[in-house]
Amino acid sequence: MAVIGIVREPAGEARVAATPATVAQLRKLGHEVVVEHGAGSAASYPDEAYAAAEATLVDREQAWGSEIVLAITPPDPERIALLSDGATFIALLSPALRPDLVESLAQRGITALALDAVPRISRAQSMDVLSSMANIAGYRAVVEAAHEFGRFFTGQVTAAGKVPPAKVLVAGAGVAGLAAIGAASSLGAIVRATDPRPEVADQVTSIGGEYLPVDVAVEKSSDGYAKATSEAYDRRAAEIYTEQAADVDIIITTALIPGRAAPRLITASDVAAMKPGSVIVDMAAGQGGNVEGSVAGERIVTENGVIILGYTDLASRLAAQASQLYGTNVANLVALLTPGKDGVLTIDFDDVVQRSVTVVRDGAVTWPPPPVQVAAAPAKAVAEPVEIPAKKGMSAGRKALLIVLGIAALFAVNAFAPAPLPQHFTVLTLSVVIGFYVIGKVHHALHTPLMSVTNAISGVIVVGAMLQITDPNPVVQVIAAIAVLLASINIFGGFAVTRRMLAMFTKGGQK
Ligand code: NAI
Repeated sequence: MAVIGIVREPAGEARVAATPATVAQLRKLGHEVVVEHGAGSAASYPDEAYAAAEATLVDREQAWGSEIVLAITPPDPERIALLSDGATFIALLSPALRPDLVESLAQRGITALALDAVPRISRAQSMDVLSSMANIAGYRAVVEAAHEFGRFFTGQVTAAGKVPPAKVLVAGAGVAGLAAIGAASSLGAIVRATDPRPEVADQVTSIGGEYLPVDVAVEKSSDGYAKATSEAYDRRAAEIYTEQAADVDIIITTALIPGRAAPRLITASDVAAMKPGSVIVDMAAGQGGNVEGSVAGERIVTENGVIILGYTDLASRLAAQASQLYGTNVANLVALLTPGKDGVLTIDFDDVVQRSVTVVRDGAVTWPPPPVQVAAAPAKAVAEPVEIPAKKGMSAGRKALLIVLGIAALFAVNAFAPAPLPQHFTVLTLSVVIGFYVIGKVHHALHTPLMSVTNAISGVIVVGAMLQITDPNPVVQVIAAIAVLLASINIFGGFAVTRRMLAMFTKGGQK
């Protein structure tokens, strides 16, 4: 049984790497959990709550000396020295930007896992801390902007006059950008968004934003992220930003290309063109900034009265929920590393997620990992004409021949079959044709409700087959029995699937 230590983060970081709820998850994997005194207090998780979750409260040295140490921020040399030999350390490590840190962790002969290196593939979504934190940070960026803006986001018509809605521009519609668009539009603002990936246009509009396209093609990398934009793209985008800066009240920038400094999008002259009282939140301030004049961690007021926020701790400003999501991401990673649920941590380098997050293994630097191909193949850039291969189908003549033969067969059955059969056969044929066209037109998103409808049809089949099962003809009896069996499988299978889907939306233990 390995001992997992939850450490208290340094000043300025309110989150904690495990909450009482995630302590329970870790314990279910066979691990013992110790928590440094006061580790969760800044995130509103008191020591007593951890004790109630059967964690042991310990001092700083003991927590840092555990076999597995869970943290959020990268450790400083003093904390690295507290790690015990052979320990496993799991935190946000920014290995691409901090080779010095990777080297000093390797010198301690430990194993270090970087949670911020979880690949963006479907299987790893439950461990993707960057996405869960960016989602919170995007929301919080809007809250910070609304607080500084000091005016309504939503338009109002009152007896005292009209209040126009605020106009918000979000640059970069990734995880943080989409959260910001959703939050700003739900507060009633007019929201516009840019992103070099044209496929985000639907996502932007579906949450109430307007997508501003920059009609210049952008190449995409195989990992699903945007590649650096071309000069032509940047020129056209700059024109859009200049137009928008003069019009909007709030700009939230989230543009990022992994492994690079943040692209500069908003220039000092764009800022100077904004109205006094306007607010800019530069979410990428920590990576060099998307906005000229923003300073990481600072609130700046420009000469023309524009407030530029460069806060880098937006997720930490919603510490309780950020800790819960971070803690769940970590617990999911620990679950992946504890396949036997027996408190024994193993790292399998054949597993792409485990390989990607492992920065140092037993004192040897294993960063960078081999590149990961995401499942979704990058779409062709907008400006490139895409040739769609013609679907190989049946020729028109053959189709017509089959239709004629089908109609002839229907007439033949109707002409020669004994009394009730033609009538039943006609109903069956028409049902098949109508069913084919109706179901074929149902959108994929509606397939789940469609399943419920097929359940109802299966119910009708069961009733019909039960009426036939008493028929003296043994062939009819057998067919009726098969019909009852198959339709029943469909009904009960449907219920089982629906139950499973509903369980995904209910909290643990709640029915
Ligand atoms: P993401 O990778 O999901 O999204 C970044 C988006 O920027 C992508 O959609 C990409 O296509 C777009 N982009 C790239 N180049 C662009 C350009 N030239 N113009 C416009 N858009 C461009 O990243 P995520 O997770 O949404 O994070 C966004 C930023 O927010 C990052 O810089 C991240 O470090 C930062 N962040 C900041 C926090 C804070 O407290 N300030 C907390 C969490 C994230």
